[in-house]
Amino acid sequence: MSKRKAPQESLNEGITDFLVELANYEKNVNRAIHKYNAYRKAASTISKYPNKIKNGEEAKKLDGVGAKIAEKIDEFLQTGKLRKLEKIRNDDTSSSINFLTRVTGIGYVLTISPVFLDLKKIEHKLNHHQQIGLKYFEEFEKRIPRAEMEKMETLILGELGKIDTEYIGTICGSYRRGAASSGDIDILLTHPDYTSETAKQPKLLHSVVEHLESIGFVTDTLSKGDTKFMVRPGRLFLLSNYLVSIPSRLIPKDQYYCGVLYFTGSDIFNKNMRTHALEKGFTLNEYTIRPLGVTGVAGEPLMVDSERDIFEYIHYKYREPKDRSE
Ligand code: TTP
Ligand code: MG
Repeated sequence: MSKRKAPQESLNEGITDFLVELANYEKNVNRAIHKYNAYRKAASTISKYPNKIKNGEEAKKLDGVGAKIAEKIDEFLQTGKLRKLEKIRNDDTSSSINFLTRVTGIGYVLTISPVFLDLKKIEHKLNHHQQIGLKYFEEFEKRIPRAEMEKMETLILGELGKIDTEYIGTICGSYRRGAASSGDIDILLTHPDYTSETAKQPKLLHSVVEHLESIGFVTDTLSKGDTKFMVRPGRLFLLSNYLVSIPSRLIPKDQYYCGVLYFTGSDIFNKNMRTHALEKGFTLNEYTIRPLGVTGVAGEPLMVDSERDIFEYIHYKYREPKDRSE
């Protein structure tokens, strides 16, 4: 997936930016997912805070901001920077890993000894998709204008119909929310023959990838699984130089709309909606929505046949994708 963005809020942007950077460092370099979540949570709360934060003490009153983060906020507000971040940025190992994570879109890539400062020099040591990632670093960093996204949507959905008219495909992510540009093309696919009750059907996804390869749309496959693949379309059918990553997923039909909801985002909107669901006694994730019993144990997944169904179950006012920034 493309790199995460800081919340759009500008009042406390300096603070939320450094929290997001620390979060990514914890996730990518240390694989410390709890710390990652803690920083993300603090950044999210602060991005919604309507006043300019004057000190750590004030920030500490907010949900998810503890003593340590408050200290960092004080340091940042007093000195304009953070020693911890300066150190991380100057550290070759962590900056290399962060770089490769951004390039390949996959979590943790490899441990690089500080000896290998120049990534180009170690190219032969990288695996296939890391090399592709490196090769197309610049292009990956560019965002794709909406007009290009529209062309690719038409092409991909049109080709899907040629393979089998029963495929259902949706381009989710920022594109579905109406963004002027997108970091990647988040495609979700399903087919009525595939549900969580049936066996896995890798062929349904493989035939799509193979077809897109056969028409020259896909040239490099970054990773290829039975339910997920990541590809890079070639230039043949595109009138542009945008090389994009296409994280795609094949989802059982009964879980499709929970998936569409999740991958449409934004992540902040998702978080808020999940919190609301919990308050109403439901647990919601990218696969299912399930009622929570009095003991807090989740029951069987509820039937879902549209995004609206999910909103209705939890009595959440329906929001069009364009209104889901938070
Ligand atoms: P992204 O492709 O990372 O985000 P995006 O499409 O909103 O933005 P961009 O244009 O930069 O690609 O992920 C797609 C959606 O998946 C995102 O909008 C919400 C969901 N998501 C989460 O809820 N949490 C996460 O940590 C990630 C990575 C994604
Ligand atoms: Mg995206």
